[in-house]
Amino acid sequence: MARSLPKPIAGGLFISLEGGEGSGKSTLIRRIEAFLASKGCDVLVTREPGGPPIAERIREILLDPASRAMDPLTELFLYLASRRQNVVERIRPHLAAGGVVISDRYADASVAYQGGGRDLGLERVDALNREAIGDCVPDLTFFLDIEPERGLARGPGLTPSGGRGDRIEQEDLAFHRRVREAYRAWARRHPGRIRVLDARQSAEAVAEAALAAVLDLLRAKGVEA
Ligand code: TMP
Repeated sequence: MARSLPKPIAGGLFISLEGGEGSGKSTLIRRIEAFLASKGCDVLVTREPGGPPIAERIREILLDPASRAMDPLTELFLYLASRRQNVVERIRPHLAAGGVVISDRYADASVAYQGGGRDLGLERVDALNREAIGDCVPDLTFFLDIEPERGLARGPGLTPSGGRGDRIEQEDLAFHRRVREAYRAWARRHPGRIRVLDARQSAEAVAEAALAAVLDLLRAKGVEA
């Protein structure tokens, strides 16, 4: 039987997921992707840093534990460069074609990790983000909130003191606490766009809350769901 064509959505639909290490983003992304595909949407899943080949190469530099000497502003500019390339090459064209984009981290991650974690300032990073993304702002962002101690312990073979994992994961607990506080403060500043989900709940409970919000968004976009 022929599969029906994906349904275009005027202007597309953009969802990003944010959270500390081990917050359960990947599981939730798979659930949202499957849900939207079942509604007939043309779904593109991407990640940051990364996405298109140029951005994936920037990712390697950023996450390589050997990049120890990296200056905080250099780090920010590389995240922004990766993001810019992803927006231009992948995200914007997919939205323009009426598709759905789900991004595993996006601009808020720079606000939290570089603005908060590296202490560069949330507003300063936000202003630079705008240069990189223009008006390509998500319709909806989920922030999976969890204490860093708990999240790091859940991660793939990580310890709260680091030692394994990528260059950012290896940062100390104080860094990850600043990241979390920055995410929480940023979510309070953007209550319409950023939904905070308690990531200590079961994966099922988190997915249920998230999918209800996605359904509301589909209806608001005029998609029959
Ligand atoms: P992940 O793919 O495992 O989430 O790894 C990406 C790492 O990069 C993660 O530790 C968060 C960090 N990060 C930043 O510090 N700033 C950013 O803007 C983004 C997108 C990610």
